[in-house]
Amino acid sequence: MKIILGPASVELGEKISQLTGIEKVPVASRTFPDGENYIRLEGSVQDEHVAIVQTTSKPQDSSLMQLAFMASAAKGNGAKKVTAIVPYLAYARQDKTFLQGENVSIATIAAMLKAAGTDALITVNIHAENALTKFPFPAKTLTAIPLLAEYFVKNGYKKAFALSPDKGAMYIAEQAQTVLQGEAGNLEKQRDRHTGQTSQTGKGLNVKGKTVIIFDDIISTGGTIVGAAKILKELGAAKIFAACVHPLLIGDAQKRILEAGVTEIVGTDSVPSHTSKVTLAPLISRELKALQSG
Ligand code: R5P
Repeated sequence: MKIILGPASVELGEKISQLTGIEKVPVASRTFPDGENYIRLEGSVQDEHVAIVQTTSKPQDSSLMQLAFMASAAKGNGAKKVTAIVPYLAYARQDKTFLQGENVSIATIAAMLKAAGTDALITVNIHAENALTKFPFPAKTLTAIPLLAEYFVKNGYKKAFALSPDKGAMYIAEQAQTVLQGEAGNLEKQRDRHTGQTSQTGKGLNVKGKTVIIFDDIISTGGTIVGAAKILKELGAAKIFAACVHPLLIGDAQKRILEAGVTEIVGTDSVPSHTSKVTLAPLISRELKALQSG
């Protein structure tokens, strides 16, 4: 097996290569003045099973094209199997048609990756597991929530209250609770499918005087965390943290979250940012080691 260091995840790919001892294949990449991408594999992949590490956060369309080009280049240069390791999988939130006339975006992405030569995909905390069913090849998701919770245990917040901002994501709070060994709960969130506006409530939640960590898969505009922090403050929480797997942090999201009373934002290097305090390298390395021995 070899690891191809996708341009969007070079550091993470290097860490995985170091942890697993799997040889890396660097990639030369360039963006032409008109915005088109160029990639070249700088090492042999002949007869190898290759794992391409490439996240697809902003600029997602560009990162997706690079991923497709790398898969195609790998197959074109004799790789026998291509596994895409995509820590943040773009377009996974559109896994069905919510309104008539929409596209199932993740199905289109899956078809494109298949056409490019991808044989399998591994991602981390995909927003909806249903998205995995749209792939015409084996696709699975790992969870980084225990790693995020361990960060808080190491920093002295064992027994903190694990909160999900949304009932549907209660399983995330429960995964964190297993590590934190404290309480867990959720807010209720409603979304208007036409305007995208969301509203949250914290009915029946007892967080008075407690340290609360809000766990979510994605922080995008920060609206969900800001809304949750407001409710937690009204309910008397003593200290509030925000943890997420994919810190997209669009625009001034980080500033707004901190201004809302959140002490610290902790993300992973799925999306490289200054909140990426937890690396996915051990999680992905374990998976690659299992693939190697299986
Ligand atoms: C949605 O259901 C996700 O789990 C996140 O809560 C959401 O994507 C966060 O988005 P934002 O930061 O824009 O509120």
